[in-house]
Amino acid sequence: MKHLILCAGLLASMTVSAQRKTIPQKVDSVLKLMTLDEKIGQMNQYNGPWAATGPLTNDDNLLSQIKDGKVGSMLNVTGVKRTKELQDIAMQSRLKIPLLFGQDIIHGYRTIFPVPLGEAASWDLEAMEKGARVAATEASAAGVHWTFAPMVDIARDPRWGRVMEGAGEDPYLGSKIATARVKGFQGKGLGNTDALMACAKHFAAYGAAVGGRDYNSVDMSLRQLHEVYLPPFKAAADAGAATFMNSFNDLNGIPASANAYLMRTILKGEWKFKGFVVSDWGSIGEMINHGYVKDNYEAALASANGGSDMDMESRSYIQHLVKLVKEGKVKMTVIDNAVKRILTKKFEMGLFDDPYRFSDEAREKAQWNNPEHLAIERDIAKKSIVLLKNEHSLLPLSKTAIGKDNAQRQIALIGPFAKAKSDNLGFWSYDWPDDSIRVTSLYEGVQKKVGADTKLLYAKGCNVNDTVTAGFAEAVATALQSDIVILSVGEARDMSGEAKSRSSIGFPGVQEQLVKAIVATGKPVIVMISAGRPLIFNWTADHAPAILYTWWLGTTAGDAMADVLFGDYNPSGKLPMSFPITEGQIPIYYSHFNTGRPAQNDSDRNYRSSYTDLSIYPKFPFGYGLHYTTFSYGPVQLSNGVLQKGKPITASVVLKNTGARAGTETVQLYLRDLVGSVVRPVKELKGFQQITLQPGESKTVTFTISVEDCRFYNDKLQYIYEPGEFRVFIGGSSRDVVETGFVLK
Ligand code: GLC
Repeated sequence: MKHLILCAGLLASMTVSAQRKTIPQKVDSVLKLMTLDEKIGQMNQYNGPWAATGPLTNDDNLLSQIKDGKVGSMLNVTGVKRTKELQDIAMQSRLKIPLLFGQDIIHGYRTIFPVPLGEAASWDLEAMEKGARVAATEASAAGVHWTFAPMVDIARDPRWGRVMEGAGEDPYLGSKIATARVKGFQGKGLGNTDALMACAKHFAAYGAAVGGRDYNSVDMSLRQLHEVYLPPFKAAADAGAATFMNSFNDLNGIPASANAYLMRTILKGEWKFKGFVVSDWGSIGEMINHGYVKDNYEAALASANGGSDMDMESRSYIQHLVKLVKEGKVKMTVIDNAVKRILTKKFEMGLFDDPYRFSDEAREKAQWNNPEHLAIERDIAKKSIVLLKNEHSLLPLSKTAIGKDNAQRQIALIGPFAKAKSDNLGFWSYDWPDDSIRVTSLYEGVQKKVGADTKLLYAKGCNVNDTVTAGFAEAVATALQSDIVILSVGEARDMSGEAKSRSSIGFPGVQEQLVKAIVATGKPVIVMISAGRPLIFNWTADHAPAILYTWWLGTTAGDAMADVLFGDYNPSGKLPMSFPITEGQIPIYYSHFNTGRPAQNDSDRNYRSSYTDLSIYPKFPFGYGLHYTTFSYGPVQLSNGVLQKGKPITASVVLKNTGARAGTETVQLYLRDLVGSVVRPVKELKGFQQITLQPGESKTVTFTISVEDCRFYNDKLQYIYEPGEFRVFIGGSSRDVVETGFVLK
């Protein structure tokens, strides 16, 4: 009896003390119990047996490895049933350390949102945060703990297929969006059952791959790295991102998976990041291909010491780290630090208290068809659409119009995407059995908008990406029969994304020929372009009267497109990337340096930094987007022509809606430091505000400028500002601006 009382007392004291223990103390108490094998097991992440997002290595003993405590996390396992199944096995391990389930919830889970580059075109940070919140709510209800998002890679080369996954070319916009997405995913904080751990990826500079070729090398000055490519990661870390993922590329000769400068000096050192770093799929083992290590043994050595805490799928850690520690080549402190970071997140997620707290079938069911989520998705989808052209105000269409000779109006929907469903979901999305009903096609969206007095005609015209023109005749005949044509062209959903770099980024197949054939009918044509990246379509841009860039808009795509087509939403999107005229113009971005021989315009190209055979301008500039109304900008007024530390100034313009429809303008603020100890870009985005005005309404839009906005990295990598003259630009794109200047003293 006494023994029993003693045990009960011990248990009670442990329980009480456990309740009083902090997470670091709990982590330490678990760490003390772990064998070296078990510690390294936590640093090992395998793909689940049901789906893969990389080259698979099949383990015939995956489940027994989980039971032996050799697996800390799984990816590509979703659904309460499957995650519970594997967690059950983890609970049979000696220490019952719960598994973390990670998943690429990049732009939605059950409800698919516009691809991130499309969302970025909305410039609506609140809407993007809401979208991530919906994604987290749905995925966490399906047993997922951790999303491998947001992808925050700055990208200035649209040949790189993964531009679709990020926020475009600009560090300021990219940083704001990174913050919004991290906050959206993590919600009220880890430990809430609707919070997902975020993962800022791919650390770092993955978007600067030479030639826009995926996985290719990256070589740049540390100055450019700090000024352009790191800011969104810093923003994600500051927003509390639980994890980072390093990238496939080598950076200045050292693969990111073993790059101690990135992971230890910057991330865990200067930025004091407390989360953990997971490698990308197999990237640790791929350092053999890089020629950085001889074999997986050396790969494990370099990555562990370089700062990679978890090994996704390469098996280098689970196969070699024990030996490396016993040989003293990897210190136990390195292992302990990595394991502490991982265990800390598991405690913060509440998984030690209840490994099944994300395995709630009722919650999964409740979130599966939440109508609120579709409304939130449709809202940002319509805001993501960019109006590139609208000659003679062809748009918006009327919902009820009479056709020629008072006959019934006939709208022709033509093109390979006019009735497309899953292509609207884009890359990094999920296909569900009911998508054919749940995803709205453009055709369906238009159908819901118009009444019986409009007849819809349809012709596919051509396939997405082949040379067959047999469908042109039917498409032309259909167009001739109609009063107006809506022509839906672009990329298929798997033409932008991972491993989808393309040397030619025009409309695939014979689509531009189809556009020409339809425009030749003389009918009014609205071209809708579906894509995950900037495409090149000069003929269409020069000849079609109206063009909407619709990215891949997700589950409610057709409804969102119809909202804009018929004026239920006045398009407000602005391009987050410059659109090149040709591939030969790449890289092209607005915040370039001036050079010693800048071309002032297209007629000033003699001995200038320009191509002799090409315009100096992109087809469409960063920040560009039209509306069904027009906005005028008054002159920039400064509160003071002198800026000093501690004495910020304001820059204001009177914005007026000079059109006949209410609309939302994204007013952009750019600065230029005219002379610096290193050359400075001709413009840098430093602020933006979204202003909605009624027709005829005016509003003074004011930005505050402080010396902090003037900082840059000098050649000693110091983040400084320098006295001198600055220019201030304010406008509705990086090119259409009003300007003035101030002096920083
Ligand atoms: C992929 C991607 C990465 C993704 C991971 C897991 O190769 O590069 O973004 O999160 O593998 O799917």
